[in-house]
Amino acid sequence: MAPLRTLAFLALIAGISSSQTSDCSYMNLLRHLNLMKENDVVAAMRPVRNWTTPTLVQMDMLLYGILEVNEKFQTVTSHIWIQMRWTNEFLTWNPSDFCGIDSLTVPRSWLWIPDVNIVEDASDTGSILNSPTISLSSSGSMLASARQRLTSTCQLNLKLFPFDKQNCTISFLSMNFDVKAIVLGTASSETTLTQISEQIMVTQGEWQLEHIDITTVKMRKGEDQLVYTVTISRKPMLYLINFILPLFFFLVLDLASFFINESTGEKLSFKVTVLLSISVLLLILKDMLPSTEDKLPMIATYCATVFALVGLSVLEAMLVSFLNDFDGNCGKNLQRSVDTQVDIQMEVNCHTEPAGAEENPEKCNLPLDQPNGLDVLRLILQEVKAARQEAEGQDKDKRKPGRYAKVAEIINSVFFTFYFLTVMVFLLYMTLVWCLQVC
Ligand SMILES: *[C@@H]1O[C@H](CO)[C@@H](O)[C@H](O)[C@H]1NC(C)=O
Repeated sequence: MAPLRTLAFLALIAGISSSQTSDCSYMNLLRHLNLMKENDVVAAMRPVRNWTTPTLVQMDMLLYGILEVNEKFQTVTSHIWIQMRWTNEFLTWNPSDFCGIDSLTVPRSWLWIPDVNIVEDASDTGSILNSPTISLSSSGSMLASARQRLTSTCQLNLKLFPFDKQNCTISFLSMNFDVKAIVLGTASSETTLTQISEQIMVTQGEWQLEHIDITTVKMRKGEDQLVYTVTISRKPMLYLINFILPLFFFLVLDLASFFINESTGEKLSFKVTVLLSISVLLLILKDMLPSTEDKLPMIATYCATVFALVGLSVLEAMLVSFLNDFDGNCGKNLQRSVDTQVDIQMEVNCHTEPAGAEENPEKCNLPLDQPNGLDVLRLILQEVKAARQEAEGQDKDKRKPGRYAKVAEIINSVFFTFYFLTVMVFLLYMTLVWCLQVC
């Protein structure tokens, strides 16, 4: 009797537990919702009881990172995370009837999903990663999420590069449904989205997220477009240190080169070296910026002007050096004659002096008087000094700068004044324009 009783007891427990699992399983709920893989109608049609009711799709877009901004191709690559919420009027249940199950996840392919796309999307199809499941809640609210490596087209305004701010729009639009069928809305406010994005942002590169604005734009056909405007600003420090400051120092070096001595000829080669260094920077700039002709970046103007200024000063140095050479050639002939005169005089002196020296030993065959010898030496010294003074005086008379050298000097000083003033005005102007936009 005892084994039979225990068997009956076990059967009772098993019966209770099996009946409990059949009540509380997800399968039971799916059976109740008539949600099976074979049920294609649920996946095909917009889930409303009255077709005139539009489906409200609430979007949320979070910015996880700004990966790349390509100035040449005018694209922005970002990492975004999209959430969509909508209501399925057929998939509702009472949680108390199903052991308190209030949410469910089902494969994405089982359900109807609004076809919301990004208008500016220029990325390849492999860049979207949809979550394989959709969350259902007992009230019929659906939640689908996706993350995407989004390459979006964005018209970049590079006028103030590298102190620029860019407004890039990411517009959501239903491809096939008009405003009667799908209404796009937002779940979170602009400030919440901006705050969350700033918190979760992993990588921003050289960019700083300013804010995210949300607007709804009516299209021509009457459909709504949900537009997220992402404002980002560039961190200009690298460009400032790597580009603008070196150019500025080259300009200063060029200014300073006016104080290099003209005669050595090093001035011109120094200036040409500075010009070459600037052209290297110009090459780098060409790789960075696109060739948009309508809005020329300020930095291009800056570079070109610095290049032109230094080029002008090289030309001026050439002119001055030419004038000096011209003058030097005329003067050299004169100087050469002076030199020969001096040489001849020296030679004459040399001829006379040795004669005197020859006389002296004859005179001094007698025992040499020291005071007498000193007097003779003094005489010789005086005569040499006089000869030298005479020669120097002649030199000074002939060596005064020629007409061309004077012209060169005047050109040099006038040009330097104008050059200095131009550089100052130009630098002031650039600083003002950049600062007014940034500060
Ligand atoms: C469907 O909705 C329209 C507009 O809201 C309404 O006029 C119509 O009576 C509804 N039909 C049914 C069967 O509820």
